[in-house]
Amino acid sequence: MKLVIDFNAIMSWLETLAAISDCPEPPPAVTRVVYTDTDLRARRYLRSLYEAAGLNVRVDAIGNTFARWPGTDADAKPIATGSHTDAIPHSGMFDGTVGVLGGLEAIAALKRAGFRPRRSIDLIMFTSEEPTRFGVGCTGSRAMSGAIEPSRLQALIDDLGDSYDAVRRKAGFDGTLESVRLDNDAYHGFVELHIEQGPTLEADGIDIGVVTAIAAPSMLQFEVIGVGGHAGGVLMPMRRDALCSAAKIVLAIEYLARKSPSPDLVATVGQLNVHPGAVNSIPSRVTFSLDIRDTDVDNRDAIVDEVIAWAGRIAVQRDVIVNHKVLNADPPAWSTPGVVDAIQQACEAEGFSHTRMISRAYHDSLFMARISPMAMIFIPCRGGVSHRPDEYSSPEQIARGVAVLARTLATLSS
Ligand code: GLV
Ligand code: MN
Ligand code: MN
Repeated sequence: MKLVIDFNAIMSWLETLAAISDCPEPPPAVTRVVYTDTDLRARRYLRSLYEAAGLNVRVDAIGNTFARWPGTDADAKPIATGSHTDAIPHSGMFDGTVGVLGGLEAIAALKRAGFRPRRSIDLIMFTSEEPTRFGVGCTGSRAMSGAIEPSRLQALIDDLGDSYDAVRRKAGFDGTLESVRLDNDAYHGFVELHIEQGPTLEADGIDIGVVTAIAAPSMLQFEVIGVGGHAGGVLMPMRRDALCSAAKIVLAIEYLARKSPSPDLVATVGQLNVHPGAVNSIPSRVTFSLDIRDTDVDNRDAIVDEVIAWAGRIAVQRDVIVNHKVLNADPPAWSTPGVVDAIQQACEAEGFSHTRMISRAYHDSLFMARISPMAMIFIPCRGGVSHRPDEYSSPEQIARGVAVLARTLATLSS
């Protein structure tokens, strides 16, 4: 089968989507947070593309969108591909979007080549892969795979105190949260195309990464309660400053992560809120996030325990209160050998260099692995940069990923 990938089409879709952004800067800086008007505009754009491509669209109760190319055998279990189109604040235009729009072009290329799938192919756009709004990532694929209870999903709240349930309904997504759950063996295979978000492929000059495992992520929320007061009036020995205590904990996190026995452990404090947030007022309350990941889940959990113990000691030393909440602590996922082999054979058929690798970033595939055989296709991105506006993969790199995805879908759907 000769495949021709129309990379002009993908690039023009990616650019149109990138312009649907809440970022004050011009594209390609992208901010597209779940259930905002911007997210809804992006969804309408995607739907227009799916409909123009002749795919049958189904949207579930939280906005997960399934665009189906029906197979010739209605009784055969379907396969699926897809990714996300939400974007963290001030990020790039390729994270997730390449997997959705690349999936669309993979289907178009297969159609042009005269291929007809035996199994139906679902192109999925997962709701809210990013944790920006509700603190927990992958809510769409978590709910589909039963990794989060509907009662817990419903009660997640955003910064304004609005619940997931209220916000999704206001965005126009109705139906029970229970209805989002798919069967335990929903798909015959799932494959996600994504940019690497790390430097390996580019540094080694390799076209395609074949993902064999996804590292285990965990997110925590900390709250430090001290005593506020007047920045002029309260002398230093009297202070119980919540921010200074939080700063000590943040540095302890960095220290513990750096001395971790597993080289794959990474820990990040990316959000910190100071109350009341006035120049001349001693901080009385600070909340901050912790994002911590490792390929070795036992090591990750051991470091989390150490962080909590250090935070407790710092609380005693500085006479403040420290609370924490674990938002998620997910196990890693391993790819399915049959899907890995299908990707590798697709690389060989296209003459692309490839290597097996793990994903340090998480993806909806982490949860799809619970309900389907799964593997991922990575393409290089410049300098390994991601979650930044200067994230970049070239049209040629994207087209290679799409070609490998198309061939993999052809194999899995036959
Ligand atoms: C996904 O965006 C991640 O943070 O790994
Ligand atoms: Mn991301
Ligand atoms: Mn992503």
